[in-house]
Amino acid sequence: MSLLDRVTQAFTERLGSTPAVVVRAPGRVNLIGEHTDYNDGFVMPMAIDRAVWIALRPRTDAHVHVHSLDFNDSRTFPLDALQHANAGWIEYLKGVAWALQEAGFALQGWEGVLSGDVPAGSGLSSSAALELATARAFATVSNLPWHPARMAKLAQRAENQWVGVNCGIMDQMISAAGQAGHALLIDCRSLETVATPLPAGTAVVILDTGTRRGLVDSAYNERRAQCETAARFFGVPALRDVAVEMFEAQADELDPLAARRARHVITENARTLEAAEVMRQGDADALGRLMNASHTSLRDDFEVSSAALNAMVACAQQEPGCFGARMTGAGFGGCAVALVNAADAETFASRVATAYETATAIKPSVYVSEATAGAQVL
Ligand code: GLA
Repeated sequence: MSLLDRVTQAFTERLGSTPAVVVRAPGRVNLIGEHTDYNDGFVMPMAIDRAVWIALRPRTDAHVHVHSLDFNDSRTFPLDALQHANAGWIEYLKGVAWALQEAGFALQGWEGVLSGDVPAGSGLSSSAALELATARAFATVSNLPWHPARMAKLAQRAENQWVGVNCGIMDQMISAAGQAGHALLIDCRSLETVATPLPAGTAVVILDTGTRRGLVDSAYNERRAQCETAARFFGVPALRDVAVEMFEAQADELDPLAARRARHVITENARTLEAAEVMRQGDADALGRLMNASHTSLRDDFEVSSAALNAMVACAQQEPGCFGARMTGAGFGGCAVALVNAADAETFASRVATAYETATAIKPSVYVSEATAGAQVL
């Protein structure tokens, strides 16, 4: 059963009518541009065909009542007296309600059923999907204008300040603004987006290592701090403002560790802009080479890969029909992404799964994903 049918049917069973509306917001996979968003740089994610769905109807009071099918858990909260509780899925919804109200929006209550199929902790942004589905739900029942970038920023604020995770803007932006059949080049400073087609005849394959990121939060915050130190050294607001030539001219005066971190970000921004260019030309070989180079840089200079991710990427890169592969998301576990010849995609997926399992004794999950639309009302 599709998730649309699942939430619709569960809504009808629990609430005794068909839902007034169903909303959906996708997870994402990032093709290139990793750990660049919080450096005001460039990213190239696409919204995937795994998403969070909410079937709902407005309430006349200022309460939200939600049942999660995945956690088999019902929660309620009042919009006029939001309170933090211990971590849990409902905090994402409360955080979005908080951020929308902080921005001056008057919110209406609603009740509904939610379910999602973005695997949590795999680096495919299940949190952003939940936040943007919630924002879309509130926007619909409360008649708010839907500006994807504005909503993405409010969802990011919810995650930073309510949930307490110091993420950048990429995940919320792509979940809000994704376009079917395209990746999105996002300028994380201006939030301008350019829909960028995948090269004809290619497919995107998600390679879940089956490992989950362990110490990711502390390592992530440490990388952010190192990038800020490097930006101060160059006397610029963010590493986005350092060109490769400027870096090369001054790098040996910088502390060696900070220099490697900065080199990743600065070259990754250049690779991402180049990726947009070669995608426009439909050059899958060139895009694949950039993805491979991105992985090397994340592994050696930024040091956010893991043994499982490196094994998966190596298995993918040696398959015929693979243009390129790299880890995707924050790192330390979770997923890799590969660009492959569409005609070989299913063979590729099963061969890489076998090779990875032989190498690591971990059963992976490998699947082709379409590029879908961002947060929408069905
Ligand atoms: C996580 C964060 C994003 C981004 C990536 C790394 O997914 O949520 O903002 O920083 O890591 O590119």
